[in-house]
Amino acid sequence: MTATKGLEGIVAATSSISSIVDGVLTYRGIDIDELAMHASFEEVAYLLWFGKLPNAEELNGLRVDFDTFAPIPQLLIEQMKLFPKNVNTMAALRSAVSALAVYDEDADDMSHSANVKKAIKLQAQLPTIVAALSRIREGKEPILPLKGVTIAENFLYMLRGEQPDEISIKALDQALVLHADHELNASTFAARVTVATLSDMYSGVTSAIGALKGPLHGGANEAVMRMLEEIGDIDHVEGYIQEKLNNREKIMGFGHRVYKNGDPRAKYLQKMSRELGEMKNNSELYNMSVKIEEMITGQKGLKPNVDFYSASVYTQLGIEGELFTPIFAISRTSGWTAHILEQWVDNRIIRPRAEYVGLHEQKYIQLELRA
Ligand code: ACO
Repeated sequence: MTATKGLEGIVAATSSISSIVDGVLTYRGIDIDELAMHASFEEVAYLLWFGKLPNAEELNGLRVDFDTFAPIPQLLIEQMKLFPKNVNTMAALRSAVSALAVYDEDADDMSHSANVKKAIKLQAQLPTIVAALSRIREGKEPILPLKGVTIAENFLYMLRGEQPDEISIKALDQALVLHADHELNASTFAARVTVATLSDMYSGVTSAIGALKGPLHGGANEAVMRMLEEIGDIDHVEGYIQEKLNNREKIMGFGHRVYKNGDPRAKYLQKMSRELGEMKNNSELYNMSVKIEEMITGQKGLKPNVDFYSASVYTQLGIEGELFTPIFAISRTSGWTAHILEQWVDNRIIRPRAEYVGLHEQKYIQLELRA
């Protein structure tokens, strides 16, 4: 038995949800380029769960479900208010989603219909939780979700308590589409491992949020923002990045296990970042990001991944860094839950082996004889 570090190149499941072939990402066979340009996040969530784009009636039905399920239990809000103010938002989100199970009497109903309902419910409630966590952190009361608006619009409204502008809604909606699913990424794998024991959907999504939090995965977008803040202005990019490269440190937002010639999602976020800068007559963040990219690609041959330009996009939308990875979680909930449903269709516990590299033939030594 020989281990493959990081399971690189190991095919660990079959899936018909999303695929990456020759650098092309598809959701249910539709190129991400088409979806990024034409689809709403609601259409994409439906596509991931049900395997086809919704017709008008089906889409309307899903929107009504989102409206119905979006409010979260008041007891959960009270619980979130007890979290320390400076809590890591992903840690708080992980705890809140875990707690959601306590308030759902169907949490352990493993019928397919109950699980589909939980997927829709979780998707509806994640934005409400993230917005509530943000407001509580600022010492403000959470805002109830609106009815009849998209998830992107509702989220921005619940954050600020005012009607968001069309450009922000469109940019966030496209970002949600781009982050919705990504084959067997670390958090999706974590979700599938958890539910393959026949644990419930809340356990699966809680595991996934834990995996997404790390800076090598979803946490990279917040880390990119921290880096841009540390650099401060474009004149400091060169010295800062060169020092990191000389020290062989990783630059967050670059590189990918699967894409070696570039992440097909990154170009949309780059375009969005450029356009937002032009609109606001302040392209400093965008220009800094481009300069970083030139250096990393020039010296290391590494291309930006989905997280790199999303940092400057969200900042220009007025969203604080603590919410970047939670926004990723809002979007990826659609993918996680689609994978959980798929796992259960033909389930087998996921239990690989480890290559033992420890000591052999050791003897038990009495406590008093140990050094
Ligand atoms: N900056 C500098 N060097 C890098 C970077 C980077 N961002 N990424 C990879 N490298 C280098 C490594 O140091 C290593 O070099 P070496 O062979 O000289 O030691 C080589 O490229 C291979 O890198 P690995 O870390 O082994 O690649 P792996 O496939 O295991 O990891 C990962 C992929 C985690 C994405 C990695 O590229 C990374 O850490 N990137 C930064 C974090 C990041 O942006 N994560 C988000 C990924 S996208 C997502 O999850 C949504």
